[in-house]
Amino acid sequence: MASPSISLRPGTGLLRRSGLVWFCIAAVGQTAFIWMILAHFGRRTLIGDFAGWNDKPLIKGYAPGDDAGNLMFAVHVLLAAVVTLSGLMQLVPALRRRAPGLHRWNGRVFLTTAVVMALGGLWLTWGRGTYLSLISAIAVSVDGILILIFGTLAWRTAVRRDFGTHQRWAMRAFLAVNGVWFLRVGLMAWAIATGGLGMNNTLSGPADVVLQFGAYLIPLALFEAYWRAGRSTRPAVRLLVITAMALAAAVTALGVFGAVAFMWGPYML
Ligand code: HEM
Repeated sequence: MASPSISLRPGTGLLRRSGLVWFCIAAVGQTAFIWMILAHFGRRTLIGDFAGWNDKPLIKGYAPGDDAGNLMFAVHVLLAAVVTLSGLMQLVPALRRRAPGLHRWNGRVFLTTAVVMALGGLWLTWGRGTYLSLISAIAVSVDGILILIFGTLAWRTAVRRDFGTHQRWAMRAFLAVNGVWFLRVGLMAWAIATGGLGMNNTLSGPADVVLQFGAYLIPLALFEAYWRAGRSTRPAVRLLVITAMALAAAVTALGVFGAVAFMWGPYML
């Protein structure tokens, strides 16, 4: 298969820098997410303490006697570290340039793992019945379906060696895969900024609903705007997108801070 490279393909100057700043903040937050997964789920799985998964608040996690469900949960959480790390690596320009072979293989790992994660996540949600509210199950399932669609299109365009189109589908696949990460970061940013306005503990409050669908729709919309601004000759369009990217970077920074301080931090040691 040809190179499944993912590139932000920035425009010039400030626009490019706004993308880079967002990426650096997101990279710190994604590394913390991977760290939490390995430190909490990885360590307990390795020593066979499956019931210990539930030391962290979960919807179901480990359920005694449910071997199939527990196995699917283990596969899902452990592959979560692989898909997040491989997605992050695909975006590092130096790696693409200096190790194109690694980049190609990493792209295959990313897309394959993304498909397994989406199918496994759909099964956990509907097959195992793991959700807090119907609307939250629907929101994450739409994300799962988008991962399958974008992943397939990224793969097919790479095989056809249509790299221009491929890069855009691969970037969309990356954003959809990270929808669950954006959700955690978005929930924390909103909770800190508003004190939890419009949120409840079944993820069905008005703010919860907007955040759950927004977790992938907003990054996808912002990417389209960024992509077009990079090719636009109108300074006003670029300025608008630079402002939006700066706002996204600030919200991401707040959310990453909140996630590390309150959500993942206690399970990273
Ligand atoms: C592809 C990117 C995904 C990643 C990186 C990811 C990551 C995770 C992680 C880390 C957990 C453990 C819970 C936690 O500690 O927060 C989890 C659980 C879960 N995920 Fe995913 N997930 C992804 C996609 C999906 C999708 C698309 C769905 C649904 C369609 C889904 C449904 C679930 C369910 C139902 C659980 C079990 C929650 C529980 O038992 O408490 N995931 N996921």
